[in-house]
Amino acid sequence: MTLFEKKFRASMQTKVVLLNRITAFIASRKGKQMRPMFIFLTAKMLKGQVKERTYRGAGVVELIHTATLVHDDVVDESDYRRGFFSINALWKNKIAVLVGDFLLSRGLLLSIDHGDFDLLRIISVAVKEMSEGELLQIEKARKLDITEEVYYEIIRQKTATLIAACTAMGAASVDSDKETVDEMHRFGELVGMAFQIKDDLFDYTEDSIGKPTGIDIKEQKMTLPLIYTLNTVDDKTKKWIINIVKKHHKDKKKVKELIQFVKSHGGIEYTINKMKAYQQEALQILEKYPDNPAKESLKLMVNYVIERKK
Ligand code: IPE
Ligand code: IPE
Ligand code: MG
Ligand code: MG
Repeated sequence: MTLFEKKFRASMQTKVVLLNRITAFIASRKGKQMRPMFIFLTAKMLKGQVKERTYRGAGVVELIHTATLVHDDVVDESDYRRGFFSINALWKNKIAVLVGDFLLSRGLLLSIDHGDFDLLRIISVAVKEMSEGELLQIEKARKLDITEEVYYEIIRQKTATLIAACTAMGAASVDSDKETVDEMHRFGELVGMAFQIKDDLFDYTEDSIGKPTGIDIKEQKMTLPLIYTLNTVDDKTKKWIINIVKKHHKDKKKVKELIQFVKSHGGIEYTINKMKAYQQEALQILEKYPDNPAKESLKLMVNYVIERKK
């Protein structure tokens, strides 16, 4: 990871002074870097080593992940990220949009410049799906007609697909056969589902996780605890809930009341169970592979995804 970070910083260098200042800021406030870790550990579990290509794959993914966060905070009008002000909060939307585009294109070029076209294909599919997922989420927030199935489709696209790309790229970077790459893709997808469900659960807490909590309803973003609640109450309560999400989503007191109702109705327990089911299904895939230290670390990562505190 130390070596990765050095390469990652270098990949964001540019001659534009303003841009360099912003990318230096981004590098200094790094996230958990779970995606690169998934790439390295998958490669190591399968072939006992990583290659130069594996590093590049990790760089591409972290660049693209960072780009989507920069854009996501513009879309969500969120001014807090990784325990500090977001890019849009510090430099405004115009600059944040352009910086996101810069990071995305740096990522794609990192693959192209080295002829890693197999990896580029995997990552490009993920980028396309992420945009679709974010837009599907907006569509559903407008119509407020989201079902549990659609929720899973949204989180699969906006989040799980990138983690799936990581584990698939980890496998592909060390020349695994197609069947293994596909299976690792499925493994990452399951991990990613659990990961986003955990992220959505954070919104129902008041913990300090380095980004705002309690904002999903404000943005009319309906996640699993609320969807479950909606599906299991009587019509009158349903109307009360929809009315808050539709007309009073900016009213802090009403939103708090709704959050409290979801909690007392068992929405959190239901969601935790679903998250654990994805986690177990992911772990099951690993069972087929021979034991080694990288596999043990990978299991720890899968458990970290649902136990993490930020
Ligand atoms: C945040 O991802 C975006 C989601 C998909 C929920 P991470 O929680 O991995 O973000 P950082 O990189 O650690 O900040
Ligand atoms: C995650 O979306 C960001 C992407 C997958 C692009 P959210 O809006 O739910 O995540 P946070 O809470 O801002 O990290
Ligand atoms: Mg957001
Ligand atoms: Mg968002």
